[in-house]
Amino acid sequence: MNKMTIRDFDFKDKRAIVRVDFNVPLNEQGQVIDDARIEAALPTIRYILANDVKKLILMSHLGRPKGKIVESLRMSPVAASLESLLGEPVAKLNDCVGEAVSSAVESIPQRVIVLENLRFHPEEKAGDESFAGKLAGLADIYVNDAFGTAHRVHASTTKIAKYIPSCIGFLIEKEIQYLTKALHPVKPYVVILGGAKVSDKIEMVDNLIGQVDKILIGGAMAYTFLKSKGTPVGNSRVEDEKIDLAGNILHKAEEKNVKIVLPVDHVVVRSVDNPGTKEIVDEIPDGFIGVDTGPKTINSFVRELKDAKTILWNGPLGIFENPHYAEGTKEIALFLAKLDGATVIVGGGDTASAASEFNVKDKLSHISTGGGASLSFLEGKELPAITAISDKTN
Ligand code: 3PG
Repeated sequence: MNKMTIRDFDFKDKRAIVRVDFNVPLNEQGQVIDDARIEAALPTIRYILANDVKKLILMSHLGRPKGKIVESLRMSPVAASLESLLGEPVAKLNDCVGEAVSSAVESIPQRVIVLENLRFHPEEKAGDESFAGKLAGLADIYVNDAFGTAHRVHASTTKIAKYIPSCIGFLIEKEIQYLTKALHPVKPYVVILGGAKVSDKIEMVDNLIGQVDKILIGGAMAYTFLKSKGTPVGNSRVEDEKIDLAGNILHKAEEKNVKIVLPVDHVVVRSVDNPGTKEIVDEIPDGFIGVDTGPKTINSFVRELKDAKTILWNGPLGIFENPHYAEGTKEIALFLAKLDGATVIVGGGDTASAASEFNVKDKLSHISTGGGASLSFLEGKELPAITAISDKTN
């Protein structure tokens, strides 16, 4: 990638404004319940601080407040979580632009400052140039390390780069490095697909099909594929309008010599709210709903994964948030964590949460911090926030 990085800048006595993706889950008490995205930005934050920056201004969105102040989406708990991870005092401001913000940036003693949720201003999502100019006015150098929002054309992710010198941070660099391995893999290359919707992953599969050796399909999307082959799926969740599309993928895979492995058994219930009705079946009877990939299927997935050199895992294999339906996802997570000699790349969003839930985060090669952004990249699309960064001059 020919983009300027933080290594290309001298931060000494400068003010740096860093776009991070601190869009983290909060519990009902408003506390951060998964700080993975904050932790992932620490290498960049620490590097800039170690290079004697005068002020390090961090900006992010949190949730989708729709251009208005939403008290429960203030950045305060995020700033507190950052302060404890960083071990350095962090100041949190109550807005992200305006006179009060500009003077606070100059006068407060703390070097690390977290601005208020960017999306409290409608101009952020609108990609407003003048709002971007105001953010840029707070600093001398713009760093983008928000991989999770790299597919968004917002004021703080793209427009701001016009106003001051720009570069990417270590997190974006690492994400691109690993996700590129999924586009240009060492073979054999196996993709594990799960999650609810075929429609979410279709463009990615289309883009990867020329590279992939095997695709293992589990989770709710498997029912749409099975239905396209005429296999009974009972009352399982199916995207009826995507059945033809699923059939086309199976056909295309056959043409390209890609082995597709679909479930041969299922964990089913009469009602998702009633795990007491759980059974394992080879064929889903009417009145039953598939909630997890069955044990025979998981064993066959494990056999297919054993010799892989590159693995991309995108989408859980059952409703893993419910411990009664988590076995398939958990078994695969634990198997991947033990696998030697393969690069294992995990897509963001739900799959990253699953890796976290089953404590395998540190044992996999890369867990993306971006759900939508990693999907866009794997679909072969340009990420506008990265395009906006200055190219290296030589
Ligand atoms: C994410 O959580 O995927 C990113 O932070 C982007 O959030 P958004 O989908 O609300 O733009």
